[in-house]
Amino acid sequence: MPPEQGGWGGGRLERDLELTDADFARIRQLIYQRAGIVLAEHKREMVYSRLAKRLRHHGLIRFADYLARLERQPEAREWEAFTNALTTNLTAFFREAHHFPLLADHVRARPGRVRIWCAAASTGEESYSIAMTLMETLGARAAQSEVVATDIDTDALARARAGIYPLEQVCKLDEARTKRFFQRGKGTHKGFARVRPEIAEMIDFQPLNLLAPQWPVSGPFDAIFCRNTMIYFDKPTQKRILERFAPLLKPDGLLFAGHSESFSYITDAFRLRGQTVYVRMPAR
Ligand SMILES: C[S@@+](CC[C@H](N)C(=O)[O-])C[C@H]1O[C@@H](n2cnc3c(N)ncnc32)[C@H](O)[C@@H]1O
Repeated sequence: MPPEQGGWGGGRLERDLELTDADFARIRQLIYQRAGIVLAEHKREMVYSRLAKRLRHHGLIRFADYLARLERQPEAREWEAFTNALTTNLTAFFREAHHFPLLADHVRARPGRVRIWCAAASTGEESYSIAMTLMETLGARAAQSEVVATDIDTDALARARAGIYPLEQVCKLDEARTKRFFQRGKGTHKGFARVRPEIAEMIDFQPLNLLAPQWPVSGPFDAIFCRNTMIYFDKPTQKRILERFAPLLKPDGLLFAGHSESFSYITDAFRLRGQTVYVRMPAR
């Protein structure tokens, strides 16, 4: 069959590789089992382009062969690349800006060492925004505080750990923040800025699958951020995760959700406190 530019034919994406309906159904099933991600039908083109790279990397021409290999080897390293390829990592510094003054008020009033878990940290912007807020709010006390930042996507985490971002992204922050928290790159790093070491040192980046039976993090936390990630999960998965978050929070600890996420009808472990912010209910 000759390769075609764009368009769909007979339930099959006609490019140089074949993605059949059966392949797509199998991919949806595998990423659901592995990461809880429910891939919508309209993500087919995204799936094709991202996984085609993996097939080419392995010199394969049939998705069915790639998937059969994966299924035969549940421990294969390729599972990591498969999962990384299918996550959506969209994020930004101080995204959903109204959450950060709320976080500042919350931690200002709390005694002792402040600990925050950023449970879907993606490429790091959210965890650095949390750390900056702690530094602005707690002053010297911020040095004893900790941000645990986790994500299933190890490529995104590597970028988060590096803490290097294009200047055009960093320049969207106000001038005081860019000066205080970033170093401009020179020479080969021109056009980029790196977060300053004192901010980076506050954050512990680790891989974590929210679906895994064990989480390599221990509470208690003053707040958990899990924003714009639950939308990729179905309701039973959301409920299970929310009920595992609750005991990891200190009394009155806060859960920050994404702008289109509502947990009120999923579990009674949390009560809505403000715009997409939930407070942990006492255990019964
Ligand atoms: C759209 S990003 C949200 C990033 C950030 N929280 C924000 O709101 O800007 C969703 C993130 O969830 C992560 N993710 C998806 N499934 C996951 C899972 N099962 N466990 C942990 N992280 C997951 C993805 O890798 C991705 O980085």
